[in-house]
Amino acid sequence: MEPVKVGIIGCGAISGIYCRNLGKLRPVELAACADLDFARAQACADEYGARALEVDTLLADPEIELVLNLTTPNAHFEVARAALDAGKHVYNEKPLAVEREEGRHLLDLAAEKGLLVGGAPDTFLGAGLQTCRKLIDEGAIGEPVAATAFMTCHGHESWHPAPEFYYQVGGGPMFDMGPYYLTALVSLMGAVRRATGSTRITFPTRTITSEPKRGTVIPVDVPTHVAGILDFRNGAIGTIITSFDVWAAGLPHLEIYGREGSLSAPDPNTFGGPVRVRRAGDDAWREVPLTHPYPENSRGLGVADMALALRSGGAPRAGGELAFHVLDIMHAIHEASNNGAHAELTSACARPEPMPEGGLDA
Ligand SMILES: NC(=O)c1ccc[n+]([C@@H]2O[C@H](COP(=O)([O-])OP(=O)(O)OC[C@H]3O[C@@H](n4cnc5c(N)ncnc54)[C@H](O)[C@@H]3O)[C@@H](O)[C@H]2O)c1
Repeated sequence: MEPVKVGIIGCGAISGIYCRNLGKLRPVELAACADLDFARAQACADEYGARALEVDTLLADPEIELVLNLTTPNAHFEVARAALDAGKHVYNEKPLAVEREEGRHLLDLAAEKGLLVGGAPDTFLGAGLQTCRKLIDEGAIGEPVAATAFMTCHGHESWHPAPEFYYQVGGGPMFDMGPYYLTALVSLMGAVRRATGSTRITFPTRTITSEPKRGTVIPVDVPTHVAGILDFRNGAIGTIITSFDVWAAGLPHLEIYGREGSLSAPDPNTFGGPVRVRRAGDDAWREVPLTHPYPENSRGLGVADMALALRSGGAPRAGGELAFHVLDIMHAIHEASNNGAHAELTSACARPEPMPEGGLDA
């Protein structure tokens, strides 16, 4: 199979791991890099053996089939729309877009043009969450009845070199970290029917303590503690908390509770384990060996899977409908808090196909 030539737009903090992995995953080849800051594109291209281009030149280059959009959230929509307009398939970092209407527009435009849209995260394609998927599908915990998902920390201004976007529209703990948890939950249990929640802003400003912006005070425009309740279409009830306001907590990352037992899933921001099961009557949790490949940081796996889908005519697992459903859920939780009522979801998506146990090369 001829590898799909990928052009990256946005060569910031997360681009390095993508570039390393694209070099290892057979269905894709990193061909070009672009950034508003050309020096970043140049540095990335030099390090990973690609061409550095201006954004418009990359979009006009007939060699590039797929644009990997690693810009900050507020640019996801414009960059993805430009890629689709230029006839390229596009895979966005999360969230798919900031507004629902933007996400919908991308899916409609892609359908009209016969192009594919995909979106991060792809951690649910890794060894840990695919093992969870297999356990649930094989009935290891019986019918899922509930789930909890917790992501608590004190924000990203202590380590990210340019953390402003985490506190602007499109950021906040739910839009930033929620996609890992929600994508994992939808992949394990299916679509969500309705959501409710409560949100708050605890600190109206944040002070950056990372370099090079140490001491800079930034405004907080979005809720930083978000608690949501999810009714899944299969009848299960999920509880999710994402927070940038918590100094310390003793909560699990992700657990699924079934009629016949419980499943402790790994951190959905990672690709590996541990995966643990405790069935009714057991007196302890049992760690389950991972059944699938990609336990290491494999960001880019979803891009490779999309490239295979592109060549074979199939559907990408980390596809646009899934990313849009997750965007819809995140908005629904915030809306429900503002309106004091449940928000019904109009979007839905099928559970993505499980990964082959032999990996993408199988
Ligand atoms: N940093 C992480 O650990 C991490 C992890 C997972 C996902 N992500 C996601 O990856 C995305 C990028 O995050 P980051 O941490 O790399 O941010 P970053 O600020 O370090 O890098 C973003 C890059 O995009 C460029 N850019 C912005 N708008 C652009 C435009 N319109 N056209 C071309 N280039 C543009 C910027 O110049 C910058 O170089 C975000 O969606 C984030 O949620 C980040």
